[in-house]
Amino acid sequence: MTKTSLSVIKADVGSLAGHHVVHPKQLSLTKELLDKAKKEGEIIDDYVFNCGDDINMVLTHRKGVDNPSIHELAWETLSKVAALSRSMHLYAAGQDLLTDSFSGNVKGLGPGVAEMEIEERPSEPVIIFAADKTEPGAWNFPLYRIFADPFCTPGLVIDQSLHEGFNFEILDVMEGSAVTLWTPPEVYDLLALIGTPYKYVIKSIRRHKDNLLGAVASTQRLALIAGKYIGKDDPVAIVRVQHGLPAAGEALEPFAFPHLVAGWMRGSHVGPIMPVSLKNAKCTRFDGPPRVVALGFQLCNGELIGPADLFDDPAYDETRRKSSQVADYMRRHGPFMPHRLPPEEMEYTTMPQVLEKLKDRFVKQ
Ligand code: F6R
Ligand code: MG
Ligand code: MG
Repeated sequence: MTKTSLSVIKADVGSLAGHHVVHPKQLSLTKELLDKAKKEGEIIDDYVFNCGDDINMVLTHRKGVDNPSIHELAWETLSKVAALSRSMHLYAAGQDLLTDSFSGNVKGLGPGVAEMEIEERPSEPVIIFAADKTEPGAWNFPLYRIFADPFCTPGLVIDQSLHEGFNFEILDVMEGSAVTLWTPPEVYDLLALIGTPYKYVIKSIRRHKDNLLGAVASTQRLALIAGKYIGKDDPVAIVRVQHGLPAAGEALEPFAFPHLVAGWMRGSHVGPIMPVSLKNAKCTRFDGPPRVVALGFQLCNGELIGPADLFDDPAYDETRRKSSQVADYMRRHGPFMPHRLPPEEMEYTTMPQVLEKLKDRFVKQ
């Protein structure tokens, strides 16, 4: 059977009014370049959107994951949009493109990537999640709840096809090694790892009984790639839903709780993630609070039907209110942890300079 590949590739290549929002000209150039590739038969379909200051490209094709020509298309597109951003003096133009030379795969060069190659089911609903002002580990909590927590996903208990659970592939982003754990039998081992989201990140999830792919997430951490702070990773994830997988509503349910994530101002603070519609996917208060959007598509032989802007719904109003209240509460801590991240995780710090300046004034007690 013909397989469909779905690639979500994203980067921050500059933005309007600080790290706030992508400019419409950046989006229209991205769309124009991808539509040209579509006309030339390089891809089947594309959809372009932004979450805050990140451009997200959704591409469908027949070329599989990690395909050099797809990655080159993404790289060339982002590079041209970065050039436009520079010509407009947009802020931090070209930020996430860490090199001038492309070498076959955008992974490790700055952009975030989530890709899957699947046999389309007779009807194939997928949800693409994209976040701004946070890191890949921000997906750990919701992905765990979607695929392993029966208090979120009753299908795990009452739908025979989910009842055997899921295999979670966990990446140690510091060591570059991965381990696969089966839930429910290994749920405590899983939680022991993914409760440390800056180190252990969910990379993919498969249905245990037949290995059917359920979800993939971007795991790139810019600071680890570049060896210094560049910007937050602002991750993406793809979740297949329905008919033997979590229902769309089960996949959206964890986001009714605005859990705390790392990122926000200067990539150095803890704050609540706020589920928003595309039109509200722009960070303001204290460069945040971190946002997440969810776009629902139907795949149709590679064509992208949609999207449905899933958080554009009053059912999430209370969550948004709650995240504003939590934002108030966290902000009251000012420069104190746990609002401010621990020293090893801060993206900006003056600690070495402060310690150097004070080194002769420390008195042994
Ligand atoms: C966080 C982020 C922003 C910036 C902040 C300072 O991911 O992008 O919070 O860190 O606006 O930016 P610079 O140093 O560019 O002035
Ligand atoms: Mg930015
Ligand atoms: Mg961003």
